[in-house]
Amino acid sequence: MENFDLVIRGGKLVTDQKVTISDLGIRNGKIAAVGLNLLGKETIDANGFLVLPGGIDPHVHFQMPTATTMTSDDWFSGTRAAACGGTTTVIDFVEPEMGESLSEALRKRQAEAERNCWIDYALHMTIHNVEPKTLQAMEYMQELGITSFKVYTTYEGMKLNQNNLRIVFEKAASIGGLCMVHAEADDLIQQTTAQLIKEKKTDPSWFPESRPAQAEIEAVINCIKLTANTNLILYVVHLSTSAAIELVDQARKDGKNIIAETCPQYLLLNKNLFTNNDQVTAASLICSPPLREAGENQAIWSAVDEEKIQSVGSDHCSFTIDPQKRSGLDDFRKVPGGLPGVELRLPLLYTFGVRAGHLNLTEWVRLCSSQPAKIFGLYPQKGSLTVGADADIVLFDPEKEVVVQQTMLHENVDYTPYAGLKLTGYPVMTIVKGNVLVKDGELVSEKKTGSFLKCNQPEFV
Ligand code: URP
Ligand code: ZN
Ligand code: ZN
Repeated sequence: MENFDLVIRGGKLVTDQKVTISDLGIRNGKIAAVGLNLLGKETIDANGFLVLPGGIDPHVHFQMPTATTMTSDDWFSGTRAAACGGTTTVIDFVEPEMGESLSEALRKRQAEAERNCWIDYALHMTIHNVEPKTLQAMEYMQELGITSFKVYTTYEGMKLNQNNLRIVFEKAASIGGLCMVHAEADDLIQQTTAQLIKEKKTDPSWFPESRPAQAEIEAVINCIKLTANTNLILYVVHLSTSAAIELVDQARKDGKNIIAETCPQYLLLNKNLFTNNDQVTAASLICSPPLREAGENQAIWSAVDEEKIQSVGSDHCSFTIDPQKRSGLDDFRKVPGGLPGVELRLPLLYTFGVRAGHLNLTEWVRLCSSQPAKIFGLYPQKGSLTVGADADIVLFDPEKEVVVQQTMLHENVDYTPYAGLKLTGYPVMTIVKGNVLVKDGELVSEKKTGSFLKCNQPEFV
């Protein structure tokens, strides 16, 4: 009988395809066998636990500078929090500075992350301009492991105009790349914001009004039109409205290669939290796109039920209340936008997705792990439990009861928007490349084995 470095015995294996009771044999950091009665130098009893491929979070922002500050989570704390919540791969962004080449910005981002990551990471490349050297550089990004490009339709200094969006989409399509888009129509946001300012409605609780649902809807319509005659895979990030999700779904039915991502905050949080609470709470909940009407939570869950969402990212972008969010209490435009969420994405989708009857186990793994891995060219190395895959494995106790509190989390931030939620089901062990990294919510190893992952060709799912 073969001897493995580690055997995970008797768990309920959950993949995007099926649920089976089986052992996993691990050798040299990889899954070496799936079967029964495997023998190893060490054994972990997984009886009663779900055994999953670690979560893949395709949308995080660690160590990201803004005009006035920096996200509170860096690579070290962000990847630590991810691992504690059962996520074993994150995909972050390279945001080149004005005048900086894509390859230089990539090198700098990799240097920051180097030796600071508890789990593997990959990168998307943000495109802010269409200078010839930028478009040329997109062509060789693939060799460097970058196959997804991110564009913004809003944010000063980041947004691309109509013509430039078209140019980037066409370029990405021509090289078999994928474009991610932050879709909110900037003109409409400028108008609504100006009106609120004129009326002296600058308190953080007015923020959601400044970025209406219509802005997302218009931008999604526009991006679908712009990509109509290309074979681009268009991945629309952080969809916050059921209407925009419907538009994406219709485009898919019309044969377009378009993918919908949503985030836990758009499924579980809403605008009522602004009106019922104080300015500080309002500031803490500012993110773009903003939280919507309460009815949208249920409407987006219905979209999940109908398989209209292909990927769930956290859009983790953390800023502390003190002093970061608090710095903008007199004017919502000064509040740094973004929410923490990398640590709770997988468990939130279990309690409110699986236990609430919106997802079965394979669908849960598909949305939180396998599909993001496939879309961004990391499958089956990541997001699968097949022989040869990296041994990034999560043991998940489906009955463990947890009341969310900021103090139990490992994110470097002084609040969580999910405080008080009651969860049933939580990760109890995270194994990274065959090494037990987290046990019962705490790091048990010093090994920061995370390294840069080169993405292969994106896959339309
Ligand atoms: O408010 C957010 N979501 N901040 C992060 C950047 C982005 O737009 O995804
Ligand atoms: Zn965004
Ligand atoms: Zn984001």
